[in-house]
Amino acid sequence: MKLHMDLGKSSYDIVVERGLLNHIGDYINVNRKVMIISDDGVPRSYCDMLLKQCPKGYSHIVAQGEGAKSLEVFADLCKELLHLHFSRKDLIIALGGGVIGDLSGYVAASYMRGIDFVQVPTTTLSQIDSSIGGKVAINLDGVKNIIGAFYQPKMVLIDPDTLSTLPRRHYANGLVEALKAGLIYDESLFALFEQGDAIADIELIITKALHVKKAVVEQDEKEHGLRKILNFGHTIGHAIESSNHLHDYYHGECVAFGMLYFIRDEAIKQRVISVYKKLGLPRNIPMECEKWLEMIQNDKKADGDLVETIWVDSIGTAHIRPMHLEEIKRLMEDKR
Ligand SMILES: NC(=O)c1ccc[n+]([C@@H]2O[C@H](COP(=O)([O-])OP(=O)(O)OC[C@H]3O[C@@H](n4cnc5c(N)ncnc54)[C@H](O)[C@@H]3O)[C@@H](O)[C@H]2O)c1
Repeated sequence: MKLHMDLGKSSYDIVVERGLLNHIGDYINVNRKVMIISDDGVPRSYCDMLLKQCPKGYSHIVAQGEGAKSLEVFADLCKELLHLHFSRKDLIIALGGGVIGDLSGYVAASYMRGIDFVQVPTTTLSQIDSSIGGKVAINLDGVKNIIGAFYQPKMVLIDPDTLSTLPRRHYANGLVEALKAGLIYDESLFALFEQGDAIADIELIITKALHVKKAVVEQDEKEHGLRKILNFGHTIGHAIESSNHLHDYYHGECVAFGMLYFIRDEAIKQRVISVYKKLGLPRNIPMECEKWLEMIQNDKKADGDLVETIWVDSIGTAHIRPMHLEEIKRLMEDKR
């Protein structure tokens, strides 16, 4: 399946195909210097498979986890590109989950003011969501994604076969972004979660979620308006991630918890909770209101004490509502 992301000069294709890792040269030019960035949790065989296809290929493997999205790792990667004399005509391949995609994308956006990069996502989260849309970033002082850019990949190559090695908790974690896409934009996608089997239906889930992201990002690439709905669940979700020093809970798990605060209708909320149970997501993250509020205030989306929050009133539609920090505090306290 091929999808075209229509963003004018920054347009690109997204290919979803089982076994695609074996023949990336059919889609991208590998006859130049290629730096494959990956982490030590991604099976080494995937990296070797790509290296075999790149005559001038190099790899840089970082330690797995959110800690890789740091200034230090960013600097190491830039230095390596410099020492290997990478030019703007060369290529970076991000092989891994959202951490590798965000980190590599930020390196690609910065090195020589921008060199080509291709996303080869290998987690549910990155195949469903983070590899497309062009948001790339690293963290600073425990604040998520505070240094970053909008920088689109040249191509996104998705091989669902790579998910066969992904641990179950990460599998479910990434599905939250598809569930979110269903809640804000596509009722039929939400229905797949309620009625279907998320593992058996994975290709359809990936495709439907990508269609939602494509539709939203094409209308508002730089997040001036509509794209903000993709942040549903992220106001509190990001705050939890940041206040936990980025360790205890995964991104999707935090977003899942965060979404519940912004669904007013109790019946819909119960349906969403049933899906969480089915996926085996944690539902009881210990509350730390004060800490979370501080993180929400630090978030780049906050404007003074006003924060734009995203609400779902009926499945498949979302709206944006600015809220004062005080109101968010009450919202959290009511749910305590
Ligand atoms: N840029 C965006 O639009 C966007 C959107 C959502 C999330 N994000 C970011 O994505 C990150 C989270 O991404 P993630 O959930 O993919 O986590 P991740 O990148 O940390 O990957 C999860 C774990 O799975 C391992 N792994 C990756 N692929 C594997 C495979 N095929 N088999 C076995 N193990 C594998 C990794 O080594 C890692 O330990 C966060 O930093 C978040 O901020 C970015």
